[in-house]
Amino acid sequence: MTQIFYLPDENLIETENANTLLTAALEAGIPHTHVCGGNARCSTCRVLILDGEEFCAPRTPEEQVLADQLGFEPCIRLACQTMIARKGKITLRRLSLDADDMAMFFDQASKKSAPSLLGQEKHVAILFADIRGFTTFSEALLPYDVIYVLNRYFQRMAEVINRYGGTINVYMGDGFMALFGLDNPDRAAERAIRAGVAMLSTLEELNPSLEGLYQQRLRIGIGVHYGGTVIGTIGDPKNPKMTAIGDAVNLASRIEAANKPLGTTFLVSEEAYIEAKDHVLVGQSFQVDIPGKSGKYTLYEVNNVTPSTNGKEFGILPSVPEKRHHLSSVKRLMTALGSWLKRLIGK
Ligand code: FES
Repeated sequence: MTQIFYLPDENLIETENANTLLTAALEAGIPHTHVCGGNARCSTCRVLILDGEEFCAPRTPEEQVLADQLGFEPCIRLACQTMIARKGKITLRRLSLDADDMAMFFDQASKKSAPSLLGQEKHVAILFADIRGFTTFSEALLPYDVIYVLNRYFQRMAEVINRYGGTINVYMGDGFMALFGLDNPDRAAERAIRAGVAMLSTLEELNPSLEGLYQQRLRIGIGVHYGGTVIGTIGDPKNPKMTAIGDAVNLASRIEAANKPLGTTFLVSEEAYIEAKDHVLVGQSFQVDIPGKSGKYTLYEVNNVTPSTNGKEFGILPSVPEKRHHLSSVKRLMTALGSWLKRLIGK
C-alpha cells in the first residue's frame, strides 16, 4: 500500500493500484489539473515532492525533455509521468491550484470543456501576412481612410483564405495569422501556399482603386510554415477565440518577417515546401538565421503555383470573381435567348 499526502488539501490517500501520482489523485477525487490529458505536453500537473522522492520512479524520457526545457529542480515532477516505484509514503504539494484551475478541473472531469478549449495537438499550415510600410502609408491618410483601406484589404484577404479552406484566427494591427488544416488536414500546406499566391494577385486587383483614391499601393509580405501546434481557445470563456500556440507559430511569424531583409514577398519553410513541392514553383532559396533559434533554416521564395481548378479539387467555394463570371455567363445566355425569341416572333 502506498500513502500519498496531498497539500494544500491535507488529504492522505492510500492506493494499491494507481501507477502514477496523477491517477492516484484522480481516483481519490482530488482536483488535479492535467490540461494535456497526461501526455507530458503541458506542465499543469506539476507537483513539488516534499518527502518520499525515493518511492517515485525516475523521470520518463518525455518528462525529462519537459523538465530540461522548463529547468525543473529534481523535486518538481509531472504527476502524470511520475510512476509510484514502491510502497512508502510520499508527501507532495500540487502547484496548480487556484480557483480557476479548480473550475477547469471540474469542467474537464465532467467533460464540459471541449478538448479544443483546453488544447489539442495538430499539424497545421500557418500563414502570416503583413502590410509593408503601412505606418508610412497610413500617415498620409485620415484615420477614417485608414480604417476603410484596412477593412477592404482584410475583407478581400479573408475571402481568399476562406476559399482555400483556411481561417484567419488572429489580427495584429495590419497583419494577420491564418491557419489551414484545423478541420481538414488534407493538403493543408499546399492550400496555404495557393492562398498566399492568390492573395498577391487579389492585392493587384485592389491596388488600382487605392492608387486612384490615395495615390498609394499596398505591398505585403507572406510567410508559411507547416508544423505541430497546440490548438486551443483563449480569452474570455464567454467569447473564446481559437488560436494556435507553439514553436511552429513563432517560426511562421519569423519567416514572414524575413521577407524584409531578403527583399522577397513570399517565403515558405522547408517543411511547408516538402509538403507541397509538386504544386509550388519556387525561385531562390536562402539559408538564414532565425532570431531566437539555433542553426540555419532553409527558406524558399514562392514564385507561383501549378494551375489548379481554383480550389475545386479541395471542394472549396469558387472565388467571388468566378461567381460573378458564372452570373455574367447566365446573363449572356439569357440575352442571346431573348434575341433569338425576338427573331422568332418577328418571323
Ligand atoms: S497533464 Fe500535461 S504534463 Fe501532465
